[in-house]
Amino acid sequence: MKLLTKFKKVFGEGEELIPSSFDVVGSREKAVAIVEFPENLKLKKLEVAKALLRKHKNVKSVLEKVSERKGRLRLRKYTLIAGNPNTEVLHKEYGYVLKLDPQKVYFSPREAYERQRIATQVKAKESVLVMFSGIAPYCIAIAKSQPLAKIYGIEINRDAHEYALENVRINRVLDRVSLFHGDVRKVLPKLKLKFDRIVMPLPKGAYRYLDIAIPALKKDGILHFYYWGKENKLFDQAKKMIEKKALKFGRKVEIISYKEVLPYAPKKWKIVLDVKII
Ligand SMILES: C[S@@+](CC[C@H](N)C(=O)[O-])C[C@H]1O[C@@H](n2cnc3c(N)ncnc32)[C@H](O)[C@@H]1O
Repeated sequence: MKLLTKFKKVFGEGEELIPSSFDVVGSREKAVAIVEFPENLKLKKLEVAKALLRKHKNVKSVLEKVSERKGRLRLRKYTLIAGNPNTEVLHKEYGYVLKLDPQKVYFSPREAYERQRIATQVKAKESVLVMFSGIAPYCIAIAKSQPLAKIYGIEINRDAHEYALENVRINRVLDRVSLFHGDVRKVLPKLKLKFDRIVMPLPKGAYRYLDIAIPALKKDGILHFYYWGKENKLFDQAKKMIEKKALKFGRKVEIISYKEVLPYAPKKWKIVLDVKII
C-alpha cells in the first residue's frame, strides 16, 4: 500500500493536511474553526476544511483568515471555505457563556486565561471600568469571579455592544455590569465616576487613552495596560508612556507586574503591565 493511501485510511481523506494549530470558537453543539492556511495548502483549502468538519463534529463552519485585524474595531476579513454561513456561536470558557459572531466582533479564545488572571485580582466592593469591552468577556469574567464588584464596560462597535448586552443577560450578571455604547473618550466623562481598577485591553492604541484613564482612577487604583512589546525591550516603552502620563497628573506609578500575554508577530508580544497609580 502506498504511503499516502495508508495515511488516508488512518486519517480519512484530507485529514493529514489539517494544520496543527487553528482557533475554535463555540461549543460542543456548534463551533467555528478559524484557520490560517499555510502557502503549501492554499490549493487544498476545501479538502482540508471538509476533513476538519468530518473530524470535529461540533465544527459547523470553517473560516479562513484573509486579513490582519484592521481599523478601530479590530476586525479581520474571513472567507467561508466550507459549512454553515451562519457563524454565530455560544462560546464557553471558565463557567460562563459568550454569544458572538467572529465575523462581526473582536474575540480571541486564546485570551481566556488572561481574563481569568485579571478577574481573580478584583476584590469585593471594587468599582471596575473595562475600556474597549467588546462582547464583554472581561466584564463577565470579573462579575462571575467577584459578585460584589461593580463593573462598567464601554465599547464602540455596535454589534459587539449588542452581544455584550445579551451576554450579560445570559450569564445573569445584569445587576453588577453596566454597559455603554460609544467612544470611550466621549462616554467616560459623562459617567462622572472614579474607579478602583481600569482594564485597557486594546494593545493597538490604549496608550492614547491614558490621559482619560489615569484621572479616572482613585488614589492607589490599579491599571491593567496592554501593549505590543518588542523583544529585548518588551516593557520599556509601555512603562515610560504610563510614567510620563501619570506625572502630568501629579501621580506616581508603582509597577506591580509585567507579563507577556501571547506572541503577536515575530519578535513581538502582546504584553500587560499591572500598575498602581498612586
Ligand atoms: C482588542 S478588542 C478587545 C475587546 C474585548 N475587550 C475582548 O477582550 O474581547 C478592542 C475593542 O475596542 C473597541 N474600541 C476601539 N476603540 C474604541 C474606543 N475609542 N471606544 C470604545 N471602544 C473602542 C473595538 O471595537 C474592539 O471591540
